[in-house]
Amino acid sequence: MAHQTMSFLIVVATLVFAPLCFAHNLYPQFYDHSCPKAKEIVYSVVAQAVAKEARMAASLLRLHFHDCFVKGCDASLLLDSSGSIVSEKGSNPNRNSARGFEVLDAIKSALEKECPNTVSCADILALAARDSTVITGGPSWEVPLGRRDSKGASLSGSNNNIPAPNNTFQTILTKFKLQGLDIVDLVALSGSHTIGNSRCTSFRQRLYNQSGNGLADMTLDKSYAAQLRSRCPRSGGDQNLFFLDFVSPTKFDNYYFKNLLASKGLLNSDQVLVTKNQQTMELVKKYAENSELFFEQFAKSMIKMGNISPLIGSSGEIRKNCRKINS
Ligand code: HEM
Ligand SMILES: *[C@@H]1O[C@H](CO)[C@@H](O)[C@H](O)[C@H]1NC(C)=O
Ligand SMILES: *[C@@H]1O[C@H](CO)[C@@H](O)[C@H](O)[C@H]1NC(C)=O
Repeated sequence: MAHQTMSFLIVVATLVFAPLCFAHNLYPQFYDHSCPKAKEIVYSVVAQAVAKEARMAASLLRLHFHDCFVKGCDASLLLDSSGSIVSEKGSNPNRNSARGFEVLDAIKSALEKECPNTVSCADILALAARDSTVITGGPSWEVPLGRRDSKGASLSGSNNNIPAPNNTFQTILTKFKLQGLDIVDLVALSGSHTIGNSRCTSFRQRLYNQSGNGLADMTLDKSYAAQLRSRCPRSGGDQNLFFLDFVSPTKFDNYYFKNLLASKGLLNSDQVLVTKNQQTMELVKKYAENSELFFEQFAKSMIKMGNISPLIGSSGEIRKNCRKINS
């Protein structure tokens, strides 16, 4: 009888507490016992890298996005080509564009010294994205952790899932929805373009031949367009760099949204948020008026993006080197 009661209590306790333990796949305290200094170590390497080059914050923030949109946040982006792996680094969105991989290497090697085989490259990407946001003046948030690293990459996923700057508004929204992100996430996360650079090749079409009639994009401010054309010629200069937010290019603030309202968004994918959809236009206005509202939603949307299909439990592995799978 006592035995039965005991078993009953254990079953009840399991049913009551199990959801509390397992409801969230990822949680911020994941490394608190296994690597208590993990978060500090990531922060200090990111801070050093950004002190050396301000743009690095933007580059690291973008890497988390390009990771999460391809097979989930599993550090597939960081794998170099080798054996059967074809690196995502060679995809259209990443080639000659994605950067910051050496910083990931530096963070990983510091973490391997402190606590070997413990902290995943996917979690490092998520932490580095948050730290980059904080260091440039943006909001902070607790990063859910416990992601594991993939044993493969997807070049086609990288080419197809990550929106292109000349995709239509509908295509971009569809690509977000396929990841479980909504229209509010789209606007808030596009606010990342308040920091960082773009190459001429990513927006040239707007300056010369937006719709195949030899004219510039009508929704682009005329004098801003003229200024851009001076360093982004009809041909050549593909790699020339331009600030995504020309007002405060290294500060995480809401000038990105203010610029959009002044028809001074750099990418076509930026400007369509005010020209192609009523709901996104209203969100842009709100975030332009109230940076706190933007910051709050940005943090929420970053956590949501960071939760895209993580590998957990015994799936995947903890890579020793972010560039290659453990063999
Ligand atoms: C909404 C669809 C998006 C499109 C079409 C897009 C497209 C682009 C393009 C074309 C560039 C310039 C790349 C180059 O010319 O080398 C860029 C840069 C950047 N993107 Fe996005 N992006 C989008 C969303 C996002 C999201 C969701 C994030 C982060 C959460 C993000 C973060 C960044 C950052 C920080 C940069 C600057 C990177 C650097 O300076 O190294 N973007 N994006
Ligand atoms: C978008 O840009 C790519 C790369 O430059 C180009 O191949 C493609 O034709 C463009 N698509 C549209 C709809 O303009
Ligand atoms: C603009 O693009 C269209 C279609 O892609 C092309 O036929 C035309 O020659 C281009 N015009 C100019 C002035 O480059």
